Amino acid sequence: MSTSQKVVVVTGASQGIGAELVKAFRKLDYRVVATARSVGSSDDPNVLTVAGDIADPATVQRVIAAAVERFGRVDTLVNNAGIFIAKPFTQYSAEDYAAAIGVNVSGFFHITQRAIAEMEKHASGHVVTITTSLVDHAIDGVPSVLASLTKGGLNAATKSLAIEYAKRGIRANAVSPGIIKSPMHAEQTHAALGALHPMGHMGEMSDIVNAVLYLDAAPFVTGEILHVDGGQSAGH
Ligand SMILES: NC(=O)c1ccc[n+]([C@@H]2O[C@H](COP(=O)([O-])OP(=O)(O)OC[C@H]3O[C@@H](n4cnc5c(N)ncnc54)[C@H](OP(=O)(O)O)[C@@H]3O)[C@@H](O)[C@H]2O)c1
Repeated sequence: MSTSQKVVVVTGASQGIGAELVKAFRKLDYRVVATARSVGSSDDPNVLTVAGDIADPATVQRVIAAAVERFGRVDTLVNNAGIFIAKPFTQYSAEDYAAAIGVNVSGFFHITQRAIAEMEKHASGHVVTITTSLVDHAIDGVPSVLASLTKGGLNAATKSLAIEYAKRGIRANAVSPGIIKSPMHAEQTHAALGALHPMGHMGEMSDIVNAVLYLDAAPFVTGEILHVDGGQSAGH
């Protein structure tokens, strides 16, 4: 087994930004562990897929164990799995709350804990988490308290992890997207969603992928919340 090839774990890898991240990391010759509930198997021997609910610690245990068994280490974790439920605050159900906390918060916590435990063995590693610029700049007409509650916590936890591990070779960063053309948004909504950005259009999945790749190759960058949002977080 080559030890020079890096190993990345990507969550939410069955579609959208996660699936694009898998392709982009493969182009850079990383070995990839791809996980999501509905992720299919891969013909590529350097892509290992593990199906499961990221909120479940048992899934996380399987993902990290499989990464170590097959590829020997974990260099990068991309916490990309996430859900967005836009509802007026008083209309959120207990199920909405549990789902958002489960995927966005528990889905970050358990796998980040296990991945960093592996990174510590080599005194090197990088955690990148996909959050949202709604955290910094809420939008009238897009009720999003559960997104802010969960992803805002992830931005804060990213900075906290960055400081805790700064002298131990492990970096933590986040990418904060605007609204991105992914399967999350039906095509007929794109014009209206685009108008919510100062630049007047939505972002592409490649914008987020390129930001993740930049952060992964930036050894002096940690604790950064990189906004890739057409100006949303700057103002309106
Ligand atoms: N698109 C946007 O406008 C936008 C804006 C800001 C932030 N983001 C963030 O970017 C990330 C990727 O979003 P996207 O646009 O690519 O969304 P997407 O197309 O809906 O993909 C979401 C991914 O998360 C996975 N996922 C959802 N629930 C899961 C669970 N319980 N366990 C495991 N995996 C789960 C899905 O896979 P399965 O269904 O197969 O499990 C899927 O692979 C998310 O964190 C999202 O919050 C997106």
